[in-house]
Parts: sequence; C-alpha cells; structure tokens
Amino acid sequence: MFVDHLSLLDFRTYASLDLALDRGLTVFVGPNGVGKTNVVEAIDWAANLSSHRVASDTPLIKTGSERAIVRIRVRRASQQTVLEFELNEGRANRVQINRAAAVRAREAVGILHTVVFSPEDLTLVKGDPGHRRKFLDDLATSMRPVLAAARSDYERALRQRNALLKSARYSRQNSESHQATLAVWNEQLARAGAAVMGARLQLLKALEPEVDRAYQQLTDGPKHVELRYECSSLDASSDTAALEHFSVEDLYELMLQAFERVARQEQERGITLVGPHRDDMVISLGDTPAKGYASHGETWSTALALRLGSWYVHVADDPNEGAAPVLILDDVFAELDARRRQKLAQLVQQAEQVLVTAAVDEDLPPALRENPHRVVRVSPGEVQVTDSPALGPAAATGQPTTGRMQAEQPMAGGAPVDQIPTNQGLGEQSGVAEAPHDRGEHG
Ligand SMILES: Nc1ncnc2c1ncn2[C@@H]1O[C@H](COP(=O)(O)OP(=O)(O)O)[C@@H](O)[C@H]1O
Ligand SMILES: [Mg+2]
Repeated sequence: MFVDHLSLLDFRTYASLDLALDRGLTVFVGPNGVGKTNVVEAIDWAANLSSHRVASDTPLIKTGSERAIVRIRVRRASQQTVLEFELNEGRANRVQINRAAAVRAREAVGILHTVVFSPEDLTLVKGDPGHRRKFLDDLATSMRPVLAAARSDYERALRQRNALLKSARYSRQNSESHQATLAVWNEQLARAGAAVMGARLQLLKALEPEVDRAYQQLTDGPKHVELRYECSSLDASSDTAALEHFSVEDLYELMLQAFERVARQEQERGITLVGPHRDDMVISLGDTPAKGYASHGETWSTALALRLGSWYVHVADDPNEGAAPVLILDDVFAELDARRRQKLAQLVQQAEQVLVTAAVDEDLPPALRENPHRVVRVSPGEVQVTDSPALGPAAATGQPTTGRMQAEQPMAGGAPVDQIPTNQGLGEQSGVAEAPHDRGEHG
C-alpha cells in the first residue's frame, strides 16, 4: 500500500501542509529541527493512532491551536481510502473514513499499515519492558484491530482494580464485600488479559523466525535472535515454554490462579502484581540476553531486525497485492556504519513505498541514492519537491509556522485530499475504486 496524499492543519510545526506522495522512495532532507519527522509522524499516527515519539496526542497539536487535522489518502491495490482525523485538546478525536459519518477512532486502525524505524528503537532492546510490550501490542493490533478493545478493557479494569486495592490498603479493609468486588475485577482483568496475552504469544511465534531472518540478513553473523515471553502470571517453578500451548481459556485460568497466589502481597502493596502489564519479551542473541550484554552494533542490528521482522510478519499475514506496509526510516542511516546502512537500504526496497528522513544527502546509502527517488527538501523557508528523471513530477504546498512551503513544480500527483468529492470523484477520474467502509476489507 502507499499514501498518495497527505494534508495537515496545525499539526506540530505545520500550520498547513499539502503534499502529494507516490510509490517508491521519497527522501525528506533538511537540517535538524526543521520538521522532517513531523511529516512522517503524521503518517504513522494515522496508521496506529499513536506516535513513535510521544505517549499523548497533545504535543501533536501545534502550540497555540486547539485542534490539528490529519488527512491521508491510502492506496491499496485498486482501492483507495481517505482517513481524516481531528485531534482535539482535551476532547475525543473525530475520525471519518471516506467522508462518511464519524466513527470511533478504533475503526480507523489497521487500514493503513506502517513500520517505522527510528533511533528510539534502541529502547526496544535496552529499555524498560513497557517499550517491548507496546511494540508487541501495537504490531498485533495493526493486524487484528479487534485487539484494541481488549487492550482498553484491560487498562480500564486494571485502573479500577488498582484503585480498589489501594483504598483497601489505606482503610485496612478486607471485608466480604471488598473480596466480592475484587473477585469481579479479577474476572474482568483475567478476561481481557487473556486476550492480550494470547495475541502476544501468537504474534511471538510468527515474529521470532522473521526477526532472526532479518538479523541474519543485516549481519551475516553467527548469532541467532531468540524471543521468549516472560509471563508474570506463571509461578516461578513453571516452564515458560509451556505457554506456547495455552489457549486463551488456559490463560484466563492462569491469571485467576495467579491472583490467588499473590493475594497477600497485593493486599500489602496495594497494586496489581501479575498480568500482561507486568510481562516482558526477552530478546536473546546466542546464549546471552541482548539487554545489558549486546554491543552497540549488535543492539542496533537487533532493533532493526525487530522492525524489519515486523514488516515480514505483516507481509506473511496478508500476502495480497498492495497489502505490504509503508516503511518509514526516520533518521536511522546517520547512526549506522556503512555496512549496515547498505544492507538495510537493499532490504527496505522490497516495500511499495519507503519514506526516509535524513539531515544531509550523504546520510543516504548508495543503494538508495543511486535509485530513482523523489526528494522533499524541508527547510524553515520552504519545501521543494524534486524528482530524479525516472519519476513523474510531484508537488507540495503549505506553510510551516516558520515560513513558506512551495511547490517547485505544479500540482500533478493525486488531487489534494480536501478537493476529493464526497462519494466518487477521484475514484472515477482515475479508475480507482474507493474502499468500502467494511472493516473486513482491511483485515
Ligand atoms: N506541537 C508543536 N507545535 C509547534 N512546534 C512543534 C510542536 N511539536 C514540535 N515542534 C517543533 O518541531 C521541531 C522538530 O521537528 P522535527 O520534525 O522533529 O524535526 P526534524 O526535521 O529534525 O525531524 C522542533 O523545533 C519543535 O520545537
Ligand atoms: Mg527527525
């Protein structure tokens, strides 16, 4: 799939941006802090409704504004879908798909697929378990959007259960009614938690060989990557490998048993000590854990392999024409040695659309620079779109807060998203069918 048009209003640095995009490779070049990541972040946000840089949506809204608008047109084989988001400060976001009535934000997840590589990925290897849990959950959700419901049910039940444990701890209460309320939350948390764990375990099974394959491709090294689920609900004497054969019902039972086992400690500490929010994915290289042991270079290769492996998992999950996710490489080449740069550059060209940000042209590996590609020069003054001769003309219009954005050539890509007539229009003009709103179409 690919994004053929992006328009932004009051998003990060952009008061207004209108940018036609195309298949193949597009490189956003410009000095630090100029707004390159902001553009690709908007595209990634539209795919997952979360940013790879921040946990909340507030920083995405241009300072001084109360809302931001992100409009994206996604092309997938012969279908196109227009996603429109209004991000509101302190209010629910508004989401429309193909200009139809507003839908719940969740409905938009999984229509556009992206895989983002960024220097922040090092935290997947070196950082807290929370980064790895989010990585697994976001990847699983993008392929199975229904998981979003289980995740939010889990978070809600966890908050309630923690509040109950905390208040009981302060009031030293352990009455029958407290126990009865706790049992209700145990049940709800175990239901949602089993769904989340089940999805993670299923994903891990598919992910491990793909991450290892990616690691081999990137390094040609002798080491293999292993991914193991570390489950807080299992008691210490149990074998983690057994988890592989657990059904969601087994995981539900496992969580209920774990609540019984840790009841005393939870009462003392006033928080929920077991469940998917305390689990981890342990990454090993050869015989040693990557975290704390891997060299800087190995850590980078592992992080890249997790992302490239995610892309392979997506492609295996949906091998249909036009289904492969958009690849976004945000400022990664500058950090890699020449060999890894070149390897990564060769591998990412399998994607239908690749968006790269770089401070200077020299950061791009020859494998990319030598191929036909489109360059979007981002500077506080203006953005210029230039093509290598092999490609047709492209265009960008809009203003970042700091200055003007100009098209070097007249508009020629897809029509701007806000000029697309409601129900047909562009579909008819270009012979492209608009995707029905049916979620099944998007897997
Ligand atoms: N919500 C916002 N409103 C206005 N400016 C913002 C907002 N969020 C980030 N910025 C500015 O965006 C710039 C960073 O843009 P970014 O796309 O990350 O740069 P780069 O080109 O290095 O990737 C910083 O100068 C930052 O102050
Ligand atoms: Mg950046």
